[in-house]
Amino acid sequence: MNTILLGAQWGDEGKGKVVDHLSAEADLVVRFQGGNNAGHSLWVNGKKTVLHLIPSGILHPHTTCLIGEGVVLDPNVFIEEITQLQAANVFTKAHERIKVAERTHLILPFHKALDVARESGAKGTKAHIGTTGRGIGPAYETKALRRGLRVVDLFQPESQFLEKLESLMNEYRAKFNPLEYSDLQSQTMKDVLYWRKVLEPMMVDSTTFLAKHFADNKRFLFEGAQGVMLDMDHGTYPYVTSSSTTSPAAGIGAAYPKLTRSCRVLGIAKAYITRVGTGPVPTEMLGKFVPGEVEVAENIRKLGQEFGATTGRPRRIGWQDLVALKYAVDVAGIDALAIMKGDILAGMPDFKVCVEYRKPNGEKWNQFPARVEDLSEVVPVYESVPGWKVANSSDTNYRSYLEKIEKFVGVPVKFVGYGPERQQMEVR
Ligand code: GDP
Ligand code: IMO
Ligand code: MG
Repeated sequence: MNTILLGAQWGDEGKGKVVDHLSAEADLVVRFQGGNNAGHSLWVNGKKTVLHLIPSGILHPHTTCLIGEGVVLDPNVFIEEITQLQAANVFTKAHERIKVAERTHLILPFHKALDVARESGAKGTKAHIGTTGRGIGPAYETKALRRGLRVVDLFQPESQFLEKLESLMNEYRAKFNPLEYSDLQSQTMKDVLYWRKVLEPMMVDSTTFLAKHFADNKRFLFEGAQGVMLDMDHGTYPYVTSSSTTSPAAGIGAAYPKLTRSCRVLGIAKAYITRVGTGPVPTEMLGKFVPGEVEVAENIRKLGQEFGATTGRPRRIGWQDLVALKYAVDVAGIDALAIMKGDILAGMPDFKVCVEYRKPNGEKWNQFPARVEDLSEVVPVYESVPGWKVANSSDTNYRSYLEKIEKFVGVPVKFVGYGPERQQMEVR
């Protein structure tokens, strides 16, 4: 069955591992949103690969990987990733394995500079999002502004590309000093021909490409990046990323909706919560609600290696949050879940699960709060679940934890990750 795979929390749920696992039975693996803010880690036979842009199905030699037009693509990062995969003998000719939609917007050096400048200007204020600094927000912003440059634009005469670049950068002239501005422009122009050369054999019209493979009964796997709680519309706005991370985004960001509307949607969640960047996490272990929880968080961070795959930042740690997970399942159209990293919690005497949000005055929240100010004041109501020895269905306590999740959110847990390696996955 064709699958759309999404993060069901705040990112880093283990999507890369599940994509790698499911790619054994997929012909095409497709990215449809986000950019190199993503960091998807895969472990195969003790070897770690981290991918930011190229779909995580690439390690299976039979797959073709497509970067859809909903992605924002930094050509330098893309080329670097190709070079790394070539050095690791994953493929020799990139264009035989990777295709790029011609309408995909480019992340240019000035997008990155703008992202970094905005974030450093906002440090210590509520406007600081803690972005990955990869130019993601500015690239989606210029796309919506209708000034963005796309992969297909690289194939125009250089003078026309420059004209578009000037029109785009001119919108932001006041943000840079003149020297920096001209440097960012020349950094871009010096690479245009090189980017063109690399991208030319990979460029496709994604609709024609997907329609053909759909007609040929090929098997598809759509790989989401980030997570539902970072969705631009439905996440914890404004502490979100700048793309749509729910299942309908797959039909827009890799444009053949006839295919995506018949997919099953698989949400990936950890047995606990993590988040990088700023913004509220109601169940964060900060020592506010549960004695000793800061030490628990430190332990989980250490055991689970909870440091950002893109920026290396320590991830914030929280108890499982079923209120947020149920919201994610509903808002993103998730049909089934994969629960990852229960092995990191194995041996704990018990574990807390949030089953209700209360307001500071004790009143119950009947919905997931839309305002971050409300979310940051949430008082979580916890239930304890007894600890487990091993994180798979053979352990009665782990099985009852999984059943509790299923009952609360209303969808089955189909996959259980119990280690980082490709084969450390139970299919239920
Ligand atoms: P993604 O962004 O959703 O692909 O997740 P990341 O790769 O950023 O972070 C997940 C981390 O957990 C990676 O280091 C994975 O290798 C690791 N991982 C994934 N699933 C499991 C699991 O079930 N158990 C353990 N111990 N590690 C896992
Ligand atoms: P994967 O695919 C975790 C977070 C950033 C920041 C916010 C906005 O590995 O799960 P951006 O650079 O997108 O403008 O940053 O979103 N963020 C992620 N957090 N995993 C990710 O990707 C993320 N991509 C973005 O930390 O809070
Ligand atoms: Mg990640």
